[in-house]
Parts: sequence; C-alpha cells; structure tokens
Amino acid sequence: LPIVVLISGSGSNLAALLTAARAADCPYEVVAVIADRDASGLAHARAEGIPTQVVRLADHPDRAAWDRTLAAAVAEARPELVVLAGFMKLVGPPMLESFGGRIVNTHPALLPSFPGAHGVRDALAHGVKITGCSVIEVDAGVDTGRILAQAAVEVLDDDTEASLHERIKAVEQPLLVDVVRRLTAVS
Ligand code: GRF
Repeated sequence: LPIVVLISGSGSNLAALLTAARAADCPYEVVAVIADRDASGLAHARAEGIPTQVVRLADHPDRAAWDRTLAAAVAEARPELVVLAGFMKLVGPPMLESFGGRIVNTHPALLPSFPGAHGVRDALAHGVKITGCSVIEVDAGVDTGRILAQAAVEVLDDDTEASLHERIKAVEQPLLVDVVRRLTAVS
C-alpha cells in the first residue's frame, strides 16, 4: 500500500522504512517524501528516485495556508497511511480531516511522559532511569494520540542528550517499521 513519509531532519527513520520496503513481502511502498525544510534526510528518498517536496511555512501567508498546502501535497500521492518520521511540526485540521486515523508519529520518549519537541532532553533532565520511544496515532493534541507501540531504553549515568537519543533511535527505527508494516498489511 502507498505511504507518504514526512520528515524534518536526518531521516534515519525514513531510511529504515526504505530499507525494509525492499523486502519482497513488504506490504507498503513509500510513494512520496515531504519535508517542511531542506532536511538532509530527503537525500535518502532522492537516492531511490522517490518524489520529494519541501513545503515551507515561510512561503505561506499563515499557518492555515501552510496546513492546506501540506494536506494537498500529501493527498496528491494518495497514501493509505501517512508517517511522521521526525517531522517537527504539528499537522493541522486539513491533514486530520483528510487522513484522520491514518497518520502515525514516532516520539523519542515513553508517552504520556515527555511529550513535545524535546522528549530526550526532558527525560534526561527529569532523571528517569528508563525512557524509550513511542509510535502513536496522530490526533489534534501534542503527542496525545493512541499509543500503538513502545520500546524501553535504559538511561546510563554518563548519558548526554545525543548519546541517549542515539540509543533510542536504534530501537525506534525497527519499532516504526514494524508498526507501519502491521498497519499496511492486507488481511
Ligand atoms: C527521532 O528520534 C524522532 O522521534 C525525533 O527526532 C528524531 C528524528 O530522527 N522527533 P531522523 O530524522 O529520523 O533521523
């Protein structure tokens, strides 16, 4: 089934989705990758000839206009599922109206703890000994949607935000691939 992936960053989760998509039994196909900025991760899609697009907030008169352009760009690819893989903006009403219940997001903390843009930093600052990642269904709130899968990661005494995020990403990628495979498997 066709999926669209939205990114803002290095696209390691996107890369994992693309690698898994090469398997003959993979139920999904990445048909487009859209970013809100010149994300370095777009290179993963370009390398495989997958169409990419950048939809910048700054190119729009306001947030509502950006929301509409984004939803239209995604809709053009006709996806069954939309995957936010390190997409650092909230999606607005147009996306939720068109794809409600069919958008998933990955978050680098064990929700409902540490929602928002700094899940790794916030968990570290709080001093938790176990954190991890969550794959959720996107709703109108900030990381409030139904939890689809989680994996735990131990916090080490000498962890920095970067070292902890690195280990979280190592479990986040297979977890996301797993959920996307499950949601696109034709029964
Ligand atoms: C992921 O850990 C994601 O959950 C977080 O930022 C990271 C994005 O990494 N919001 P990448 O762009 O997939 O490498």
